[in-house]
Amino acid sequence: MNNDKPITILCLASEFKGLPFIHECHRQGCHVLLLMAEAHRHDDWPWEKIHAHFYMPELSKQPDIFHAVSYLARAHQIDRIVALDDYDVATAASLREHLRLPGMGDSGARYFRDKLAMRVQAQAEGVRVPAFTGLFNYDRLRQFMDQTPPPWVLKPRFEAGAVGIRKLQHQEAVWRALDSLGDQQSFYLLEQFLPGDVYHVDSIVWAGQPCFITASRYGAPPLSVTTGGGIFNTRILDNEGAETAVLRRENEAVLRALRLNQGVAHTEFIRSHADGHYYFLETAARVGGANIDKMVEAATDIVLWQEAARLVLADVRGQAYQLPPHRQDYAGLIICLARQEQPDLSAYQDEEIVWRLPKPYHAGLLVASPSAARIEALLTSYNERFVDDFLAVGQPKEQVRTNI
Ligand SMILES: Nc1ncnc2c1ncn2[C@@H]1O[C@H](COP(=O)(O)OP(=O)(O)O)[C@@H](O)[C@H]1O
Ligand SMILES: [Mg+2]
Repeated sequence: MNNDKPITILCLASEFKGLPFIHECHRQGCHVLLLMAEAHRHDDWPWEKIHAHFYMPELSKQPDIFHAVSYLARAHQIDRIVALDDYDVATAASLREHLRLPGMGDSGARYFRDKLAMRVQAQAEGVRVPAFTGLFNYDRLRQFMDQTPPPWVLKPRFEAGAVGIRKLQHQEAVWRALDSLGDQQSFYLLEQFLPGDVYHVDSIVWAGQPCFITASRYGAPPLSVTTGGGIFNTRILDNEGAETAVLRRENEAVLRALRLNQGVAHTEFIRSHADGHYYFLETAARVGGANIDKMVEAATDIVLWQEAARLVLADVRGQAYQLPPHRQDYAGLIICLARQEQPDLSAYQDEEIVWRLPKPYHAGLLVASPSAARIEALLTSYNERFVDDFLAVGQPKEQVRTNI
């Protein structure tokens, strides 16, 4: 590569996010090209750090996106294409294939976007997953329902944030749901509902190995928060604890099975109340949403979006990625829909509070401490107080977006 020419990174952004990624690219002297969904063109992007920007009505539309990016490539020597939003992961992969650029291609990205593909592959490599079936052949489906005790969840293969997930109690309900889905049914899967605690592992992967992880546990399972309108909370677990040890191992096994060589990953597990085992739920080749990046930063100083940029740039330069020195403290996050447009959180004054969610009709706090037990105690107490002080009951205005 000619060393005088700045590295050029094309970022795809269907949502307004990933700003530290752009900052880091700029800090390292790269040219950032930002191709965004038109709806976000007036958002508060760091314009002075963006070499050129473009927008389209939607980024996933074919062949428009191939035409647009190939056109950009006439004037710009694009070194890498990066997805800033989960919905851009597959688009970025097919653009890499089209432009013959390094990084995750179509079949690699499939493991991280398609919940059926990730299950089939993880199971084939010995990872424990809930009993599941694709929705193609009805004899197979009947067999699955005869052999697997309900309830089951009917789940879209390509969604996030618990969107479109239905819990079904008997076979007739499944057939009715499939009828209403019509030709969409093959884009779903059916799996056993396992009551349990839901965990997430957020990691940085270099050369096929996680070199940084935080293991965390959601309070109420995300599905019950989005459908029941409860309080979302999550906390980083004790580094030395038994849960973290198992999650570290399971996360490694999943990412190895799904062949993630490099990048940031957000992986979820459910620990079944019935047998105590951890089951792989889903993974994504991206920074976790729902302010999880802020929680990780509060506990460790690691800014996952910034590290995502450092991984890509190390790779372009043929250098080894070095994880920066960091703390190993703890943090927790609590968010709910509020009855009040501007909820008054002034009664919450613990010194561990490091951030307050600035969003109308939401109450949210981020706490950090060197003690995992202290975080747990704070979240337990805030959870009770949030019910009285803020929690909106009845029809929520909008859902709290949880694990996307
Ligand atoms: N097999 C299952 N058993 C129990 N709960 C489940 C199961 N699958 C999903 N859920 C619930 O639904 C939520 C969302 O499911 P997930 O597979 O993580 O999809 P999404 O991409 O929408 O987050 C989970 O966090 C969990 O609360
Ligand atoms: Mg999830």
